Amino acid sequence: MPTPQKKPVVVVTRKLPDVVETRMCELFDTRLNLEDKPLSQAQLVEAVKTADVLVPTVTDRIDRAVLTQAGPKLRLIANFGTGVDNVDLDTARNRGILVTNTPGVLTEDTADMTMALILAVPRRLAEGAAYMRDPATKWSGWSPTWMLGHRIYGKRLGIVGMGRIGQAVARRAKAFGLQIHYHNRRRVIEEVEAELEATFWESLDQMLTRVDIVSINCPHTPGTYHLLSARRLKLLKPSAYIVNTARGEVVDENELARLLEAGAIAGAGLDVFEHEPAVNPRLLASDRVIALPHMSSATIEGRVDMGEKVIINIKAFADGHAPPDRVHPAML
Ligand code: 8YV
Repeated sequence: MPTPQKKPVVVVTRKLPDVVETRMCELFDTRLNLEDKPLSQAQLVEAVKTADVLVPTVTDRIDRAVLTQAGPKLRLIANFGTGVDNVDLDTARNRGILVTNTPGVLTEDTADMTMALILAVPRRLAEGAAYMRDPATKWSGWSPTWMLGHRIYGKRLGIVGMGRIGQAVARRAKAFGLQIHYHNRRRVIEEVEAELEATFWESLDQMLTRVDIVSINCPHTPGTYHLLSARRLKLLKPSAYIVNTARGEVVDENELARLLEAGAIAGAGLDVFEHEPAVNPRLLASDRVIALPHMSSATIEGRVDMGEKVIINIKAFADGHAPPDRVHPAML
């Protein structure tokens, strides 16, 4: 009789939805983090010493120091998340450790939140809502010149990064009457450009000088770190808004705060920050900023779908197949 295959030891670094954890426990020798307390670097090292598979998230820094102490059993890092900037991909590759992610399943949720910020910041939605809830203020009624924001219909949206999420944002924005402009390493296929009536800008600088709202939708890689540098942020019109639901590191956050304070940029909608979970207090102090706690993909459905992707990747790998969502550093 064939001996039953040994289940891989899977270490999960954060609490995942119950259904995902239950299924993982059925399929694998799974070690959960039911308390959901982020692991320290020392605890991560312990995890990679014993695991066959590590399931980290954006809050775990799986860097060189961690990976070089990994035990010989560690063969797969099945990231719970699409962005893989929390993992040192080069060191993983050099040590023969595969990395997978969860693309596709959080596209629509992230695009929804991006669109929500594109609407909310120019229309001062958070300010209005905060005013109504503040016990110190008493709404005295409608006024023709109070709480005025800016129209978004007919304005130019400049999308930085026209991958799945960028395109999903563009579809929504087009329906709201925005004109779609984009910058991407590669021009998207003609059919997509035609559907979105999108204008491609090879030069990010040139696009930035012309658009009314910028949406950051590219991954954080060594090549996109501070892509919106101090110099580039200064190219924006003083009436421009910036929305970031990608990664804080793509924008020079200090300079953004400075330009907002100086009135050189009209406002920002930020779901991600350069030094998460720390948030630049100057951004939080500004009425022109809507700050969210990295919640663009935070739907129950999305998190369950992400968990399913993680499971499929581990199962495929454990069964000796190529996991479907393998991350190749070259594709980033
Ligand atoms: C996730 C994200 O919540 O998947 C991503 O890249 O930014 C988020 O929406 C988080 O990364 C989970 O690890």
